[in-house]
Amino acid sequence: MSKRVYIKTVGCQMNVLDSEMVIADLKRHGYTVVASAKDADCVLYNTCSIRENAEEKVYSALGKLREAKQRDPEKLIGVMGCMAQKDQEIIFKRAPYVDMVVGPGQLHTIPELLSRVRDGQGRQMAVSLGRKDDKQAVVARSHETFDPLRDPSMRPTPFQAYLRIQIGCDKFCTYCVVPNTRGPEQGRPPAQILSEARVLAEQGCREITLLGQTVNSYRYATDGEDTDLAGLLESLHEVDGIERIKFVTNYPKDMTERLLVTVRDLPKVSPYLHVPAQSGSDEVLKRMKRGYTVSDYLAMIERIERILPEAAISSDFIVGFCGETEQDFQQSIDLVRRCRFKNSFIFQYSVRPGTKASERLVDDVPREVKADRNHRLLEVQNEIAKEENAKLLGREVEVLVEGPSKKAQDADSDQAVVQMTGRTHCDRIVVFDGNRRQAGQFLQVHVDDVSSHTLIGRVKTVEVVSIGL
Ligand code: 5AD
Ligand code: SF4
Repeated sequence: MSKRVYIKTVGCQMNVLDSEMVIADLKRHGYTVVASAKDADCVLYNTCSIRENAEEKVYSALGKLREAKQRDPEKLIGVMGCMAQKDQEIIFKRAPYVDMVVGPGQLHTIPELLSRVRDGQGRQMAVSLGRKDDKQAVVARSHETFDPLRDPSMRPTPFQAYLRIQIGCDKFCTYCVVPNTRGPEQGRPPAQILSEARVLAEQGCREITLLGQTVNSYRYATDGEDTDLAGLLESLHEVDGIERIKFVTNYPKDMTERLLVTVRDLPKVSPYLHVPAQSGSDEVLKRMKRGYTVSDYLAMIERIERILPEAAISSDFIVGFCGETEQDFQQSIDLVRRCRFKNSFIFQYSVRPGTKASERLVDDVPREVKADRNHRLLEVQNEIAKEENAKLLGREVEVLVEGPSKKAQDADSDQAVVQMTGRTHCDRIVVFDGNRRQAGQFLQVHVDDVSSHTLIGRVKTVEVVSIGL
């Protein structure tokens, strides 16, 4: 029986990594990957639950598969990821032709479940326990990290990779569904992380991005040994071949002096810190149960500015959270102005079933007001980003080249000179005229022009051996 799989991934970096892992596993089980659902015997959706519109998009994409399934009942349809964990049976109810539902803590079961469906055993579901279903340790065990094999062919660029160091989240911000869908926070053993980093380096990977929902809360304790993110960075820094190390996403309260000093002292570790503030109002932060005040957050920013003056800081904000007044919102604008983030991701609050906010607070900010605040905050942020980027005009930045830019890909040209794109150590996007062979190289680029999202430059030297700023 032919086994051609197509996977569609939406959502965060964790999902991108999960998809890479699932495909590597399926390839081991004889599957080949195809580029469209039409050509596949098995269509997988890796889904996200963070906001309602992410889910609605998946349900509408599933709706489009109804006819395909009628025409070809052998075509297997699977839903994996956070929406699978959250909605479980509801998915079978809303889309009865779905064959498999698998939560993010059960990804290792996918090959077996698919073969059961093929054997005529009917639809299959594998999900982890809910937070209140059993004792913490039992619930944690039902959420398994899945990191079997690395497959460079599944990554957009083989010289960059995500590396999971932690799963789950225990912060329980009142708006957020993640502690339910991804379960209790669990750090992976440092030895496993290190050996995976070495495998990646052998595969030619030069940049790794460590992933965790609250990556700087990472802890792994065994008899007598307790490793935190700083300790892990020190070990990873020793891996030959890995030349850049980034880590996302950070939790403000766990941004310790020790971690910042470690970032400063390890040249391979990028001075780039994504630390979501979510709001600039103490009242809103309290209702979000973020566990810090605006002045705590500012004290953290000052700590970063003191220890890592060149660092780029980025943030997430939610606008229109329950009870957010215009005055609260103005305080978010003030915070963006004060912190001068490299960029911020801005989201309109979306009620998530099962969260504290959905049970105890009223979603009382009208849709139009949320959209308007989103727009206004983005405008301020963009203006600041452009001013910050302008400080780099005339300077040279070191860029890890990723490949042809979107513009060059759309033009699909065979020309020798194409627009290439890459990122600086501080995670700024850079475009410049170059050639495809430069992908994967570190180049010195002279910055000639800037916009709020991009530096536009020109290559000065060919290949840089050392790592610098
Ligand atoms: N509504 C809107 N945005 C949300 N986020 C998390 N939960 C919600 C929600 N219910 C945002 C936060 C988080 C980012 C990944 O998504 O800003 O940092
Ligand atoms: Fe969600 Fe808060 Fe955990 Fe981030 S820290 S994943 S926002 S609960």
